[in-house]
Amino acid sequence: MIIIRTTEEIELLRESNLLVSSTLGELAKWIQPGVTTQKLDEIAEEYIRSHDAIPGFLGYHGYPKTLCTSINNQVVHGIPSAIKLREGDIVSVDCGVLKNEYYGDSAYTFPVGEISDEIKKLLEVTKESLYRGIGTAIEGKRVGDIGYAVQTYCESHGYSVVRELVGHGIGKNLHEAPEVPNYGRMGKGSKLKKGMVLCIEPMINIGRKEVIQENDGWTIRTADKSPSAHFELAVVVQKDKAEILSTFRYIEEI
Ligand code: MF3
Ligand code: CO
Repeated sequence: MIIIRTTEEIELLRESNLLVSSTLGELAKWIQPGVTTQKLDEIAEEYIRSHDAIPGFLGYHGYPKTLCTSINNQVVHGIPSAIKLREGDIVSVDCGVLKNEYYGDSAYTFPVGEISDEIKKLLEVTKESLYRGIGTAIEGKRVGDIGYAVQTYCESHGYSVVRELVGHGIGKNLHEAPEVPNYGRMGKGSKLKKGMVLCIEPMINIGRKEVIQENDGWTIRTADKSPSAHFELAVVVQKDKAEILSTFRYIEEI
């Protein structure tokens, strides 16, 4: 069952998702060569708690941290640690919060210092694919239209789409129906209705689409060790244009 949200619920979801956005904006100030992902995790946890919310991932299926920090060939679910970011790395920072009983969830892949043109292009294309997916999240379209938009754009640039992990509905639970794959066929899947709230989150690899799980039981990385990018925003399906609840504005203003 896909829940249709009331105006009041949408306002609460906006508050939670904007808190995640400003948390990522705070982290942007710290992301540079030499910082550990554990330090980023501590900053995020403190920031979230000081805004009357709790970390949304901490304890989720036993997940041990506030953030997922996935470096270079890690796709998602990297666990913050004492490892230092290095010049030329990319790091996907995925963050969730629970505030007023509603979840927020957003991710951004940051460059660390100067990165190669090849990887810059991966970040640009992945982010643009997210906006193309959002562009199809309108009443009357179907979930497959979102995946189709993301997939065709990324594959036209020679990149591949991770299949094992998908976007999702969000509300009083972090993950709700429907699943929102980043690949799909036009006109297939559940019909989109005004008031559905979805997290769209393309995970895109420079190389092959296959991924493996590392021995820590969480971290997902590309099987061929090629770099991977990940961006996520929460949107409300509306009649003519999706309404975006989270924003990269806090990050990109810096
Ligand atoms: N951020 C992931 C998502 O977007 C969920 C992370 S779950 C955790 O769906 F357990 F790893 F925290
Ligand atoms: Co998500």
